[in-house]
Amino acid sequence: MLNFHTAGESHGKALLSIVEGLPADIEIDVNIINNYLKRRQQGYGRGNRMQIEKDKVEIISGIRNSKTIGSPVGMMIRNKDWNNWKKIMDIYDIDIDDEVSKPRPGHADLAGVFKYGQKDIRNILERASARETAARVAVGGLLYNFLRYFDINIISHVIQLGDIRIDKTIDDIKDIKAKIKKSKLNCIDHKKEKEMVDLIKEAKEKGDSLGGIVEVKTNRMIPGLGSHTSWERRIDKSISAAMISIPSVKGVEIGSAFTNAAKKGSKVHDEIYYDESRGYYRSTNNAGGIEGGITNGEPLVIRLAVKPIPTLSKPLDTVDINTKSTKKAFKERADVTVVPSVGVIGEAMLIYILSKEILIKFGGDNIKETVSNYKNYMNNL
Ligand SMILES: Cc1cc2nc3c(=O)[nH]c(=O)nc-3n(C[C@H](O)[C@H](O)[C@H](O)COP(=O)(O)O)c2cc1C
Repeated sequence: MLNFHTAGESHGKALLSIVEGLPADIEIDVNIINNYLKRRQQGYGRGNRMQIEKDKVEIISGIRNSKTIGSPVGMMIRNKDWNNWKKIMDIYDIDIDDEVSKPRPGHADLAGVFKYGQKDIRNILERASARETAARVAVGGLLYNFLRYFDINIISHVIQLGDIRIDKTIDDIKDIKAKIKKSKLNCIDHKKEKEMVDLIKEAKEKGDSLGGIVEVKTNRMIPGLGSHTSWERRIDKSISAAMISIPSVKGVEIGSAFTNAAKKGSKVHDEIYYDESRGYYRSTNNAGGIEGGITNGEPLVIRLAVKPIPTLSKPLDTVDINTKSTKKAFKERADVTVVPSVGVIGEAMLIYILSKEILIKFGGDNIKETVSNYKNYMNNL
């Protein structure tokens, strides 16, 4: 069974990912992983840390001569700023006495110190920080090398930033890619993007932060991934759980679920047609490619609602956990908005869920065996 783990603190020595369950002989292009890492760090509104870091992956195990060998793949992303953080984050001995005691509303700080019985909020915030998502994106980049064998392509783009929503829709993900290449915010609507950039500038000046909505979609989909037979096997459940696990994602929409809720069934359900060359197809995709917890063959469309990030350069009221007096919340280098980055992390999580489901349905111990099982199934459809 495909699975992955990550380890590492935000300002620790490095981030680690371990991916187990990949078949042997998958050709791995490390540039694909590094390109995903680069895309996660981009986007207007990210903080200075993105200039310092420029993430690069080091592959430690599981790959030989640019091919998987079936053993766990270990990956590491070093923290380029480690020397500056050593005195605060050293594994054995820290030489400063600078505890964080003013929890930020909206972050894991207060709930984390309750749960883990900590006095220093840094022991919570270092792992709660979304820096961890770089390790997930490395996993997504690695697994994209696997998805390539099945002609599955995934892209994300920003459809809302703060209260500014785009007016356009583009179906073909090749066209989406071309449009967002020229965008600072991964946005296909360049006119609205200008308004979004102004909104970010204004929020920055006021010491505030912004959320938004990002869409993650695929070019096509293999029908039959997931299952209706039990709640744990429904692919809509797996995708939603993976997406909501991204820090700051507070809502997941599959297809146009929230507008569907206000419409009549006759205007929502995607009518079924058949054509000799295309096979079964739909003229609409309001379901976002999933019916009964199973992919129906239409592209997947998933939207993520992202909250404004908690660290504000003009901080909110909080209580100092030592003195119990009202203070302003702790602040550290912070982003103004992370909506474009959340899209890239969403792509990585979707790549993981799809890779897992493909291996459940077609899995072999070697990529040739897996692809052959897949082709056989597709030929018989
Ligand atoms: C890519 C990315 C970067 C983030 N950067 C920050 C940040 O600089 N400051 C901050 O307070 N929160 C940031 N967040 C959000 C927090 O990690 C998140 O709100 C916090 O962990 C609490 O989790 P929750 O929002 O899921 O409840 C970021 C999230 C993502 C996905």
